[in-house]
Amino acid sequence: MSELASIPPTFRDDVESILIPEAELDARLAELAAEVDRDYAGKELLLVGVLKGAIFVMADLARYLTVPSAMDFMAVSSYGSSTSSSGVVRILKDLDTEIEGRDVLIVEDIVDSGLTLDYLTKNLRSRQPASVEILSLLTKPSRREVDLPVKYIGFEVPDVFVVGYGLDYAERYRSLRDIVTLAPSVYGG
Ligand code: IMP
Repeated sequence: MSELASIPPTFRDDVESILIPEAELDARLAELAAEVDRDYAGKELLLVGVLKGAIFVMADLARYLTVPSAMDFMAVSSYGSSTSSSGVVRILKDLDTEIEGRDVLIVEDIVDSGLTLDYLTKNLRSRQPASVEILSLLTKPSRREVDLPVKYIGFEVPDVFVVGYGLDYAERYRSLRDIVTLAPSVYGG
């Protein structure tokens, strides 16, 4: 089981395979930060992280950025312990700050159906920011239900449920350093 050496032993039986190792996530975030730096040169960014999945993307991206950036967070209703979208989006925690006239970059872990971010971008646009763009570490294009422009994408993943690096299944596995797939036994298979 040496290929799962980076997974803590307590989680190893639950993990099927490592889809994107920590080093690749890190390298890609550095590249994305360089793109963002270039696009927002001379400006000041407001990074809006979507809780809880985006916490590590936010932490790592923000530390690679050299343009000045502030951070705020929103929490929206998610899937709970199910693995497919309900399409219902509810704001559980709103921004602490006003965004009128500001350049907003939404920082997300994964875009699946796109329903969550479609709702969120429309909601934020109604507050008259100077701009709103989306950065997502992962995207599952085959699952998209709405046309959602995601300006910065880390990796395209196939239609499989992934966890780690902030992504959870029933609130577990967020702390894993890699993006992994879970063994069928975890889902009761
Ligand atoms: P969407 O509204 O369908 O795009 O869903 C986006 C949200 O669903 C993400 O922010 C995640 O919380 C969750 N999600 C979608 N796919 C996965 C996955 O493969 N693993 C963990 N969470 C996921």
